[in-house]
Amino acid sequence: MAFDNPIFCALDTTDLEWAVALAHELHGHVGGVKIGMEFFYAHGREGYARVAASGQPVFLDLKLHDIPNTVAGGLGALASLAPAVINVHAQGGSAMMRAAADTLRGGSGATKVIAVTLLTSLDADDLNALGYRADGNDATQAHVQNLAQLARTAGLDGVVCSSHDLKAIRQACGPDFLTVVPGIRPASVDASDQKRIATPAWARKNGADVLVIGRPITRADDPVAAARAINAELTAAEAASRV
Ligand code: C5P
Repeated sequence: MAFDNPIFCALDTTDLEWAVALAHELHGHVGGVKIGMEFFYAHGREGYARVAASGQPVFLDLKLHDIPNTVAGGLGALASLAPAVINVHAQGGSAMMRAAADTLRGGSGATKVIAVTLLTSLDADDLNALGYRADGNDATQAHVQNLAQLARTAGLDGVVCSSHDLKAIRQACGPDFLTVVPGIRPASVDASDQKRIATPAWARKNGADVLVIGRPITRADDPVAAARAINAELTAAEAASRV
């Protein structure tokens, strides 16, 4: 269940004109763009429409997390935007995820609803502090795997997950479950504040359908050249793996 080009560029900004210009510039060089709270809270539906007018799929990354009725209402209000992908938090529970899936199933059918498993900013210590019993990386991965399975059972189309959890999620949820992976850094680029990073080729090899890539493209001197370089890196890795 992949897009033609797996790269979705994260337009993390409140600068409307910059985001719109970059979305147009990147069209054809990436599979889509992602806009999140920062952009959407600043510019709302009109801002969304201007980015979407670049003519490519949009991932609306608002990570809804509330009681089922409120999440269903929120998604219902967003449904007419018809983003390619939208998300909720898996920690909102099965009933909330089912409400999310049911709300958008009645619409155009094109929007994929996915769940954030565990924020990659949280580790085993954070899980313990939150009252979960997590004794290390394995326990964290089991937690993520469980959340992904709950999302799948609730009828969602996939998850946002760390590249390091891809194999466990594929094993639990099968090949058709959409996996959207942030924390991607081309081999040649600085990691910034991302910790558990992976190269685009490594993430794809391990089963990522969508690679969310922000600053390595948006902060490059030439964003189109940066996107092209990542595409070339992916093509070379795929060709090498076929030999
Ligand atoms: O600039 P960078 O490539 O680090 O951007 C990654 C994008 O993915 C950002 O929009 C960030 O909010 C998002 N994200 C993340 N880690 C998650 C979920 C989303 O980095 N666990």
